[in-house]
Amino acid sequence: MALLEILKYPDPRLRIKAQPVSKVDAELRRMVDDMYETMYHAKGVGLAATQVNIHHQLFTMDVSEGQDQRICVLNPEIIFREGIQYEGEGCLSVGGGAFDKVERALKVKMRGLDLDFKTIELDAEGLMAVCIQHEVDHLNGILFIDHLSRLKQDRIRKKIEKARR
Ligand code: NI
Repeated sequence: MALLEILKYPDPRLRIKAQPVSKVDAELRRMVDDMYETMYHAKGVGLAATQVNIHHQLFTMDVSEGQDQRICVLNPEIIFREGIQYEGEGCLSVGGGAFDKVERALKVKMRGLDLDFKTIELDAEGLMAVCIQHEVDHLNGILFIDHLSRLKQDRIRKKIEKARR
């Protein structure tokens, strides 16, 4: 296994729309293992392939306390949304300590494929629902900060530029 480099905003590659996965082979399984390792190492609860410069529709997630409940979804689709929540969100691809509340659905139903290419459906709420919406956004080239006000986005961008100097 290997740690993968996580792309950082404002890297334009974070804006690429991911393509559907058409088959699961040894290479893809290895990549998923690397994504889990990278995600746990970075202390994240979710990682979209886009963030490691792989433009296929898949993400890894583990929102459990013990970090022992791995979920990997290929070609995820949110097929139902209900309610509203405002949870604080951050992102491994956005530096500058950016963390803010984003409007998300409280509950979602997601459909996708597992690593055996079998259809799976997942009902999620709370943190897991936030994570799913955040990762599906990544696969569409959308970052959580895109949901914030222009003013807040400018502040984050300035902080990141300053930290770079
Ligand atoms: Ni993220």
